[in-house]
Amino acid sequence: MSFCFLLIGKRKAPFSVISGNVGTRQNDKLCYNAIYMETLVALCGVGTEKVVANELRKLKLPIRDAGIGRVRFQADIPGCYRALLCLRAADRVLLEAANFPAGDFDALFEGIRAVDWERYIPPNRGIRITKVRIGKSRLQSVTGVQRAAHKAAAARLCERYHCSRLPEGDGAAELRVYLEKDQASVLLDISGEPLFKRGYRTEGGIAPLRETTAAALILLSAWRRKFPLYDPFCGSGAIIIEAALYAWDAAPGLGRRFALSELSLGDSGIEKSLREELLGRVDFSRPVRIYGSDADHRAIALAKSNMARAYALARGETLDQGILNPPALPCLPAIRVLRMEDAAAPAGIPAGFIITNPPYGKRLGALAEAEAVYRSMANIGRRFPGWKLALITDHPGFESHFGKRADSCREMTNGALDSYFYQYEGRVCP
Ligand SMILES: C[S@@+](CC[C@H](N)C(=O)[O-])C[C@H]1O[C@@H](n2cnc3c(N)ncnc32)[C@H](O)[C@@H]1O
Repeated sequence: MSFCFLLIGKRKAPFSVISGNVGTRQNDKLCYNAIYMETLVALCGVGTEKVVANELRKLKLPIRDAGIGRVRFQADIPGCYRALLCLRAADRVLLEAANFPAGDFDALFEGIRAVDWERYIPPNRGIRITKVRIGKSRLQSVTGVQRAAHKAAAARLCERYHCSRLPEGDGAAELRVYLEKDQASVLLDISGEPLFKRGYRTEGGIAPLRETTAAALILLSAWRRKFPLYDPFCGSGAIIIEAALYAWDAAPGLGRRFALSELSLGDSGIEKSLREELLGRVDFSRPVRIYGSDADHRAIALAKSNMARAYALARGETLDQGILNPPALPCLPAIRVLRMEDAAAPAGIPAGFIITNPPYGKRLGALAEAEAVYRSMANIGRRFPGWKLALITDHPGFESHFGKRADSCREMTNGALDSYFYQYEGRVCP
């Protein structure tokens, strides 16, 4: 305990210095992990930064700043696990290992070699520089920066681990180098697989929406569990499944592992107790009014099996290959084959939210078909009087085909695709 007090005034001291002073390495790590604040970057779709910032605020993780497609925040190791497990709209979480001026290759090399890489990367692990991004800097060569960064981090690790070279191949720790105005930011990926890979979707169907984008739409639309939600183009189910996870208060990362656990900073004790806490919070007791439909039988079969897997993961189960259909329970969304043109608000259900992702022109390679679907959506307001309509598409001219101007339109990305999020605030009916 006294050791923990000692550390409070030394938040920026590296682990290697602290651990040399007091106690066993395991005890040091426990105290260290609970106190030391790391700087992290949550990567997200362009246009969803505010959503991620709000999520971080709710998780009580202090925000430092935000830029296009990223939010920088601080967290100790429990906070890192909380971010990985709970953020719904972030695509990745990276740990900023260093930030320093790097106007030339020498400065870049020395800056990266000076990082305590052994604090992050255990012995017998390789490293891979997975991304280099350069903006307004004197260093211009992406491959040159990539090579120098790898050489510098490897030099430090080989010196500390007394080896002549690092292992190659699978399982390497993944680093990114971002150079902006001659300032280098070196980031270690603690997510592993991107966070939209929740573990419940094995196949995407046609033009699937990223799970993190689907979650961002739900949060942007201000839908709450007490309202009905309907996706008439549900495809493999990203929107309705993310809505169900949100309604159950289920952390989206419960069904997967993270790269953090394979790093020196990883702490299985912290992770286990946080997972238990989050599982204990999942609430299936209240019925939900979430509905999904699609004209395509195969898409509906996929949505149902994805839903079943999401439900199993939210219950803390490991996936059984045999799961195909979810049980019919009041806490689960209702999913069926139906053309959007034939859908109408269920009798006795108050007005709710249509949140959807109609066919994409570019993605499906069928612009004319997509535009015809937008035109056939024109009378959806008569079939869903008073419902709010929120939809994402890559078509910048959706409103002219639909025949009504949206109350708001937000530009955002869905993966590599530039998209538009149109919202009609319950005045769809002419
Ligand atoms: C962009 S995809 C939706 C993808 C979905 N968000 C997901 O996560 O998989 C559009 C979907 O609209 C469906 N669709 C196309 N025309 C339709 C119609 N008239 N009525 C209902 N569904 C339709 C397609 O089968 C396709 O699954």
